[in-house]
Order: sequence, then structure tokens, then C-alpha cells
Amino acid sequence: MKILFTASECVPFCKTGGLADVVGSLAPALAEQGHDVRVILPKYSMIPAEYEHKMVHTVDFEVALGWRRQYCGIEQLERGGVTYYFLDNRYYFGRDYIYGVGGDEHERFAFFCRGVLNALPLIPFTPDIIHAHDWQTGMIPALLRIQYAGLPRYDSIRTVFTIHNLQYQGIFGIKDVQDMLGLSNAVFTDDKLEYFGNVNFLKAGIVYANEVTTVSPSYAEEIQTAYYGERLDGLLRARHNHLSGILNGLDVREFDPATDKRIKATYTVNDLSGKAENKRALQEELGLQVRPDVPIVALIGRLNSQKGLDLVDYVIADIMREDIQLVCLGLGESRYVNLFSWAEQNYPGRVSANFVMDNNLAHRIYAGADIFLMPSAFEPCGLSQMIALRYGTVPVVRETGGLRDTVLSYNEYSGEGNGFSFFNYNAHDMLHVLQRALHFYRERQDIWKVLQHRGMTADYSWLHSSRIYLDLYKKLLPLHLGEGKPAANAPKAETTEKPAPKARKPAAKPKAEKAPVAVAEEAPKPKRTRAKAGAVKAEDKPAKAPRARKAAPKAEKPEE
Ligand code: GLC
Repeated sequence: MKILFTASECVPFCKTGGLADVVGSLAPALAEQGHDVRVILPKYSMIPAEYEHKMVHTVDFEVALGWRRQYCGIEQLERGGVTYYFLDNRYYFGRDYIYGVGGDEHERFAFFCRGVLNALPLIPFTPDIIHAHDWQTGMIPALLRIQYAGLPRYDSIRTVFTIHNLQYQGIFGIKDVQDMLGLSNAVFTDDKLEYFGNVNFLKAGIVYANEVTTVSPSYAEEIQTAYYGERLDGLLRARHNHLSGILNGLDVREFDPATDKRIKATYTVNDLSGKAENKRALQEELGLQVRPDVPIVALIGRLNSQKGLDLVDYVIADIMREDIQLVCLGLGESRYVNLFSWAEQNYPGRVSANFVMDNNLAHRIYAGADIFLMPSAFEPCGLSQMIALRYGTVPVVRETGGLRDTVLSYNEYSGEGNGFSFFNYNAHDMLHVLQRALHFYRERQDIWKVLQHRGMTADYSWLHSSRIYLDLYKKLLPLHLGEGKPAANAPKAETTEKPAPKARKPAAKPKAEKAPVAVAEEAPKPKRTRAKAGAVKAEDKPAKAPRARKAAPKAEKPEE
């Protein structure tokens, strides 16, 4: 199968959040299964020189954006079995940020979406599937159906659109976008691109893609409700037959305490002595009291309201009344920077606040901490709790989205669980559950070890989820009997405007298109990803520890 990912970020080239990790690890995971996977990204100036030097100029052409004619170069790089293309225009992407302050986000990403589609015949590459990620690429499925339908190189392409975070939608003025993309008034209606008087790029992806996915089964359900739906819940309910939740995986080679070169001492589930060493090193490094017995509670991630930091703010004094140490790492809103700065000053030797994006330090914290706190207000998937589990750092989370699908609260009676969780968005519920975790840490090391064991031995790789994506792609392929039809409830293609891209100068001789990799014919699998209960009882032998990918019991489950 020929698959093209379109995204605004991807490790190791450019990253602001989990989107980059997912694109950068799912693409190679699909390629490893024998598919022709390519990724197209903007060529930002912050892409490290080591990669930029390896890029090969493939082609350049002009992109028409309304009255503008903009240069568009395509640079190419092979890495780990995946071909990466970088869409080059210094005016739009030669800046020291990914998302911006320039007030021209609509133009930058309209250019990107148009540029990606126009580049295809010139690269040349005709994907079976375009898998577009998040609002920055949401216009790709829309443009494809509105303006490119019927064109030979485009007609067979099917699209999957993944929502990594429904909160970020890319909302702009209709006139501004019309001025870029030459769309007629007919598509600015509420069943298509219009959103409360504006145009919404994320909505464009949801309306026009053949299939829509999000990054955990629970989040796929949640976003169909008004509480989590960010004013798109009605549309998501309308598309529920084409909406599924597929849990993210991790790059398990990058996050492996047994081989991690970034940490002081490597360790495995059978010998956790290295973890103690990492803890001591972390305490020394961050100026915390060096005490092996005191639990370190870690918070790593963007410091914004999504991450539930209001709850921490509300009960910080109660939290610090416990004999614990608190370590926070991340960049974000000033109110949370103030909170943790204040705590650091107020509790010397017990709190360490680090307002940086430092991947190496993140590894050292995952390895050295005991408890990972993630009380998110909402969490599409969340990768940090899975990393924490892998490093034997027991998570305390709110039961929402992907947190609910990966962390199962310890149940003293059934023995199930791999962490601790609470349901209501309530500071004292969080405090109570954190205290419960501290109780087990202090009084029941036997149980603590079981929880660590389960976390460290579960499977967080892409193996499972990448297959679910492949099944979804296959379902869209025309050869797949009975399932090659475009989404029945998606708008019909309008074929009035068809910009035919022209190469200005096919600089290097375009490489012959790769022969499609044969797709193994398999029986179609059910689309839904509802994982089977993965929890095991305490007496289960650790070697069979669970992959905690299950929808945890509902709110009303007895906690203890
Ligand atoms: C976003 C979400 C996060 C998810 C990530 C990757 O950053 O907030 O929950 O894990 O995307 O899909």
C-alpha cells in the first residue's frame, strides 16, 4: 500500500507535542510491515542541520494562492525505511517557530495543503491513502474532494484524518481563506466548511475525509458529547459511522529503561536497583534532598489547562504536607509557571520546577521518579503516562481519554490495576487518590512492585495499533470488495475548480515511482478498537503482565 502522511510536525525533525512523536513513530512502524510510507512536512528553519544537510532537492514549482504565486520546493530524505518530503518556502516556514505569532497561520497552512496536493504528480507519487493529521492538514481531504475530484492522479486517493486534539481547530475568516484557496461560497455552509461564521480547518478534515480517527477509543466516544466536543460534537455524532479511536503507541526503542543512554543507570523489571540510582542522581541534579525513602512525584508536559494543573494549584499545600518531592518539567502558561516557581521557593529541597523542553532531562525524570501525576481535564491519548509505566513510575491519572484506556486503577479486592485514577475533575478527588498511591508506596511495597511490574512489561509498541490503521486503510481501497466506496455521508465532490499543477523545473530527474507493495489479502477486521480487558489479577505471574489497553470500568465502579 502507498501511504502519505501529511503533518505539521514529526520527530526527529520538528516537535512541539505528541503529534510529532506519533507521526515520527507510526510512519516507520507501517513501513516495517512492508508498505511504501512517505511523510510530507513543512521545511521549518529549526530542522536540525544534520537532517537539512542530507536533504536532496527533488523538484520545485509555483503554488497559486489566490493572486499570489509562491515558490514551493520539495526536498527529500530517506530515514528508517520512510521517505520524508519537506515542503520548502522560506517566507512561510523559514521562521524560528512552528506555530505562530505572525497572524498568518491560515496562509501558511493553506499554502502547505495546496502545495502537498500539487506536489504529488511532480514527486511523483500517487498514494492510495493520504493520512492527514490535525487541523494544519485538514484542508487536504477537503480540497481533494472539492477541487481535484476526477483528475486522474487524484481520483483514486482515499483519505484518513486523525484528530490529535480537538481543542486546536484552525479557525479563520472565510474571506481570508477564500482569498487563498479559491473556494466558492457554496462550500461555506454549516454542513461543510463554515463554523460559526468562520472557516474551520479541523472541521474540513472531519467533513471531507473518508475516515476520521482519533487517538484513543475513549476520546472517540467523549468528543461526541457536548462536554468534550468543542462545538463539533454534533458533526462528530453525524459521522460516527466513520469515526474510530485507535490508541497511540510509543517508540519503544526510544523509551526503554534497559537500554536508555540518557539515564544514569539502566534497569529492567527483574532488577530495579538502577532505578534507585537514577533517583539519587536526579535528586542531586535538581537540588532536592537526597533521600531514597521519599517518593518523587513527577509532572511532565505542556503547562496548560488541558493538563489539569488547576487541580494541582488548588491543593498544592495539601500535596506538599505529605512527605514527598515534586518535580515538574515543561513549558507553558505563566499562571502555572508562577505556581511551580512559588512552590520551588516555598518548599526548598522538595520541589524542582524546570521550565524548558529538555528531552534528556525528561528521560532522567521518568527513570528517577516514583509516581507520575497526570490529572488532565481531557487527554486525547497522552504518551507520558505510557512512558512512565514503561519506566516503572506508577501513574496517578484522571480517567479521561487515553488515560482511561491505558491506566487501570488498582483494585484491592480484585487485585487488578497498574496505577491509580480518579474520575471527577475535582482537586480533592485527585488529592485523595494521590494519598492512596502514597499509602501503597509507603506501606505496601509488595503491591507497588506488582504495579511497577505490570507497567514495565505491558506492550506499548505500535504493533497492535499500526495494524488497526492498516485495516482501516485497506477498507478504503477500491479493490477491497464492497468497501471501496467513498463515505456515503460525506459531501459530494464539486468539480468546478481544478488547478492543474505545473512543474517549473523538474530539477533532478524525478525518480521512477516505486512499484506498489503487494497488500496481503486479509479478511476485514472489525473497525472498532475496543480493546479486551487487559488487567490481570495480583496473583498473575508478572511475565504475562497486562497491556493495560482497556476501557477502564466506568465512573461508578467501586474504587476500593
Ligand atoms: C496531542 C494530545 C495528546 C496525544 C498527542 C498525540 O498532543 O494532546 O493527548 O497523545 O496529541 O496523538
